Amino acid sequence: MRLLVTAGPTREYLDDVRYLSNASSGRMGYAIVQAAVARGWEVVLISGPVEIAPPVGCEFHSVMTTAQMRDEAVRLFPDCDGVIAAAAVCDYKPHTRIEGKISKVGGPVTLEMIETDDVLAELGASKDHRWVVGFALEAQNPRENALQKLRKKNCDWIVLNGPQAIGSESNSVEFIAASGETVAHWQGPKSMVAADLIEWLDTHAAR
Ligand code: CTP
Repeated sequence: MRLLVTAGPTREYLDDVRYLSNASSGRMGYAIVQAAVARGWEVVLISGPVEIAPPVGCEFHSVMTTAQMRDEAVRLFPDCDGVIAAAAVCDYKPHTRIEGKISKVGGPVTLEMIETDDVLAELGASKDHRWVVGFALEAQNPRENALQKLRKKNCDWIVLNGPQAIGSESNSVEFIAASGETVAHWQGPKSMVAADLIEWLDTHAAR
């Protein structure tokens, strides 16, 4: 099996020194990479900036912005059997990135933001025979929102988790198929949840 994983946050720059991002640690995605490598899979990891070292044994691609993650994902996906999109991608970016450093203006400022590329939706739209696993981080109507995301992004399965997953060592997830059926519930340290996910895919996902 050759697996593509996206992990960590992305950054969207306002100017050369300031950016918008989120609190993703990258732990869930990195745990998935480790579990897949341990199972003997080839793993290609595209990661935003995190504080943990790239897992030994994977092919590592470091990115900062959502556009860079998108470009790498589109380039690397065709050679893989499937993708697990664990990255906490920024949904918006400043309309323009200012060169240099924005100075204070002595009053409030307004920032115009535009949507970033949806990496997972683009991979889902071009998947052909490849399988696609998305993540959904939901605070309200979790199941309904996760299913909507699964369908919109043409995923085969989606991992539903809650905001408590952010920055935590552990996780509690519901794994949902495109039919809407809950395939499994997994909880515990992220390393164990990742191992359960990879074991399940090893049996059920096409290579
Ligand atoms: N995702 C992505 N590119 C984006 C946004 C999200 O690849 N620009 C992926 C994430 O890696 C995850 C899935 O899409 O696998 C769902 O991400 P999430 O942030 O929960 O959903 P959004 O589509 O961003 O919707 P919203 O933030 O409005 O809930």
